[in-house]
Amino acid sequence: MGAVEIRKMTGGCGAEVLGVDIAALSNSDMEAVRQAYVDYGVVFFRDQKLTPEDHIAFARRWGDIVVNKFFTPTQNPLIAEVRKEKEQTVNIGGGWHTDHSYDVEPAMGSVLVARELPEEGGDTMFASMYAAWEALSPGLKKTLEGMRAVHSNAHVFGAAGFYKASDQSAGFKGESLIGEAVHPVVVTHPLSGRKALYVNPGFTTHFEGWTGEESQALLQHLYRHAARPEFTCRFQWREGSVAFWDNRSTWHYAVNDYHGEKRLMHRITIAGAPLH
Ligand code: SIN
Repeated sequence: MGAVEIRKMTGGCGAEVLGVDIAALSNSDMEAVRQAYVDYGVVFFRDQKLTPEDHIAFARRWGDIVVNKFFTPTQNPLIAEVRKEKEQTVNIGGGWHTDHSYDVEPAMGSVLVARELPEEGGDTMFASMYAAWEALSPGLKKTLEGMRAVHSNAHVFGAAGFYKASDQSAGFKGESLIGEAVHPVVVTHPLSGRKALYVNPGFTTHFEGWTGEESQALLQHLYRHAARPEFTCRFQWREGSVAFWDNRSTWHYAVNDYHGEKRLMHRITIAGAPLH
C-alpha cells in the first residue's frame, strides 16, 4: 500500500482514508487514522478484506470491546449482527441516533463492516454534533450548557419497545436489561477538546428536571437543527467497505430503502468513558 491519504467528504463530517490495509496498519498510519477520526467524526475505508479476527484486532487498537446486550451476536460473541432479511420491512438503526448513549459510560465508537449488501441503497448517513453545536445561537448555547438529559433504551429494546413490536423482534434479546443514564447536553470531547451537542432522537427521553412534554419542544427543535444537510455526510457501501465512527461527536442513520433485498453488517462497539 502507498502513503495514507485522508480525503474529507463534506463540510459537515466524514473522511475517506485511502492507501491503508486495516489488517496491517503501521503505527504511523494508525496515527493518521486517529487524527482523521478526531477531526471528521467518521472515517471510511474501501477494498478491505477483514476476517472477523482482523475486525476484532482493529477494534482493540482503539479500546476494549463492549458487547451489546440487545443485538444478536455473530458466531463470534464480540461481533454483533446488523441484519435485514429480504422479507423484513424494518431495519436496525433506521433513524438518527448515537449508539449506547443510554449507558453510563457511552461507547467511544463503532466499527461497521459490510458483509452482504443490496444491489443499491442501504447507505448510512452521519451528522456532526460539533457542527450542530457550533451553529446554535449564543443565547441557546448559554441555556443548554448547564443542562443534563436522560437517555433510555426501554422504548427501543424493552419488552414494549420499538423492535419487539416489529418484524425485527426475533433478532433482539435482553429486554429485561433495559436502563438509562444522564449526561450533559453539551459535552467536551475527550480527544478533540471541542464541544459537541449530546442529545439524540433515538435514545434521549427528556431533560433532567423537565417533564417529557416540556422537553419535547426543545428537543425537537435541536433535532431539526442538528439534522441539517450541511452537517451531514452519506456513505455508499460497497463490498470491502468499513466505517469507524465516533459516538460522541456524530449521529448516524441507516437508510432503509432496499426492501426485498438482504443487508448484513458486522458491528463492534468500543468502550468509552463518562462524558463531561
Ligand atoms: C447502526 O445503527 O449501528 C447500524 C448502521 C448501519 O447499518 O448502517
